Amino acid sequence: MKRILLALGLAAALVAAAQSPAPMQNPSSPGLSNNLRGAGAIDAEPKTPLMPKTVNDDKRPMRNYAMQPPIIPHQIDNYQVDRNFNKCLSCHARERIADSQAPMVSVTHFLDRNGVVKDKISTRRYFCTQCHVPQADVRPPVGSTLQDSATVEASLAKGAKK
Ligand code: HEC
Ligand code: HEC
Repeated sequence: MKRILLALGLAAALVAAAQSPAPMQNPSSPGLSNNLRGAGAIDAEPKTPLMPKTVNDDKRPMRNYAMQPPIIPHQIDNYQVDRNFNKCLSCHARERIADSQAPMVSVTHFLDRNGVVKDKISTRRYFCTQCHVPQADVRPPVGSTLQDSATVEASLAKGAKK
């Protein structure tokens, strides 16, 4: 459970955030940020935080670069994805989008390893959550300075002119 919470916390930390709270100090190791664990001595069991809500607003945020796998803007709780069944494809497969009105997986999802477009989803793209992840509704405990590729290009070009 702790590991799951840590993973969730780390995932949350990746959510790009304009602002992040000032780092909490760990009394046992001054100078070390303690935001994921919360205040408290290192040998004391902290109170387990509640599981955060999944963002489920159906809104597509901007992608940070052209090849970024889009994040999943809806809940995926209990969606089965294994060798027997793929719940995601029941809406996102080419044959299903007329009914579901979900965006179809793009053509890259049909390429085999030789770059040939197949009719079936590529085995390399079968386990969707390898690349696509939902987001947790949290204040990221650690800030992110990630900028999208166009912003980086623009600031590089500006620097070159000077
Ligand atoms: C019941 C139908 C349904 C199921 C099942 C479903 N989706 Fe979706 N998905 C949608 C719809 C509809 C959208 C469009 C945005 C919205 O309404 O949430 C969407 C949007 C997305 C997007 C955003 C696409 C973009 O261009 O930004 C991704 C990624 C995605 N889904 C991945 C998944 C994955 C991975 C699974 C399985 C774990 C899954 N979906 C299961 C219906 C579904
Ligand atoms: C190996 C990584 C990977 C896997 C696995 C993967 N995708 Fe993607 N997906 C991407 C990338 C990268 C993009 C954006 C660029 C592109 O379209 O190839 C994308 C784009 C999408 C889009 C947006 C398509 C569009 O035209 O805007 C949807 C929807 C989607 N994926 C759904 C799925 C579903 C459903 C699965 C599982 C059946 C899946 N993906 C598996 C990497 C992956």
